[in-house]
Amino acid sequence: MNDLLYVGGGNPLNGTITVRGAKNFVSKAMVASLLGESPSVLRNVPQIRDVGVVTGLLELHGVAVKSDPDAGILDLDPSNVESAHVADIDAHAGSSRIPILFCGPLLHRLGEAFIPDLGGCRIGDRPINYHLDILRQFGAVVDKREGGIHIRAPRRLHGTKISLPYPSVGATEQLLLTAVRAEGITELSNAAIEPEIMDLIAVLQKMGAIISVDTDRVIRIEGVDRLEGYTHTALGDRIEAASWASAALATGGDVTVKGATQPEMMTFLNTFRKVGGRFDVQDDGIRFWHPGGDLDPIVLETDVHPGFMTDWQQPLVVALTQAKGLSIVHETVYENRFGFTDALRGMGATIQVYKECLGGRDCRFGQRNFHHSVVVSGPTPLSAADIEVPDLRGGFSHLIAALAAKGTSTVRGISLIDRGYENFQDKLVALGADVSRDAGRS
Ligand code: EPU
Repeated sequence: MNDLLYVGGGNPLNGTITVRGAKNFVSKAMVASLLGESPSVLRNVPQIRDVGVVTGLLELHGVAVKSDPDAGILDLDPSNVESAHVADIDAHAGSSRIPILFCGPLLHRLGEAFIPDLGGCRIGDRPINYHLDILRQFGAVVDKREGGIHIRAPRRLHGTKISLPYPSVGATEQLLLTAVRAEGITELSNAAIEPEIMDLIAVLQKMGAIISVDTDRVIRIEGVDRLEGYTHTALGDRIEAASWASAALATGGDVTVKGATQPEMMTFLNTFRKVGGRFDVQDDGIRFWHPGGDLDPIVLETDVHPGFMTDWQQPLVVALTQAKGLSIVHETVYENRFGFTDALRGMGATIQVYKECLGGRDCRFGQRNFHHSVVVSGPTPLSAADIEVPDLRGGFSHLIAALAAKGTSTVRGISLIDRGYENFQDKLVALGADVSRDAGRS
């Protein structure tokens, strides 16, 4: 199949679409099923490639996975967990970042694990030093090898006291998935507290874990000997929801996102309103629309929860190209998340990239040669272009830009977007977009 999409732009997106469970929760809940002695059921699972990657890895380790994709239900039975062959695991190298989270569960179940080299979006170095430090503190022995990491637990892992240098989402999840069955108490300071992590804690509690979340980013876990399976409905994907909201704003449209929820999106909603977008929170979703007239520029800094998510940044920057005046965006989570703006400049946007920490406090990337702030000057009409998708969120942002631009754009490498946006082409069609995989039709 062609890995490109022809996008006829210049028309507002109008209509209703649905988002299902959060990519960045569902994959972790699937890994958690490995910790149970009995089967788990996960609901509201989207059909995205990351779910397929984790399914493949679970199956390699003996988990029986039954899927009803239309209903969004996964049955995960870990009764026969077993070691996988290194060559089979290797086939998954570079496919996602989730394999690193298999460490704790596999150490508890099998005493050892082999983790292939990781993939995921190239938006910075994305090291795993926090993960390995955590595992070592629990008593695991880590051996870096060609193509991956071999890790083993010479004896039962034991609870520990850890303070993260930065509230990393993945490292917090690593700790949770390892501490729940370690011996004794674990205390994590400077933990990430994203809603997806809170939902993972809810899953682990259903399985029998004892976890308390204190004030000031402290999480305490009392290890238990045994966990059971869970039944859980995944929280909605707030990144996908915000992406569609930004698409509505950038195209002057009106999009209702069923499955979007207010508590997890409060920070986004505040920013959306400051830019001049309107929204209406409904029982089963949120309607986002452009009210007409000028959009307003903003000064924005990305941050860990409850700050403005880094994953919301890229789609919103496209909308900011249509705001009247100068907007400043300071990216403080990843050092290299503005690569996608090259294509926007090629389409007519005025976006300057800076190494300095603009618009707020100094962050850990200041004075270190990272292009991690931008100034966006608008409004600038966008024109169609031939563009290549750089990463998941950057790719969706390119789609938004193509939808807002006059003329027909060619967006290449769109299969990257399938990693995290369920049926996005069908959703675009449902919103009235002129998109096609066939050059003649758009
Ligand atoms: N970091 C380290 N060392 C580590 C781990 C992280 O230095 O061992 C640094 C990273 O380089 C980064 C910062 O800490 O600068 C934050 O990274 P974090 O660990 O929080 O990110 P992650 O767990 O790898 C998840 C999501 C990302 C999302 C971030 C932040 C998944 C699979 N990925 O990544 O989602 O941007 O949290 O919320 O959950 C996406 O969905 O497109 C995506 C990139």
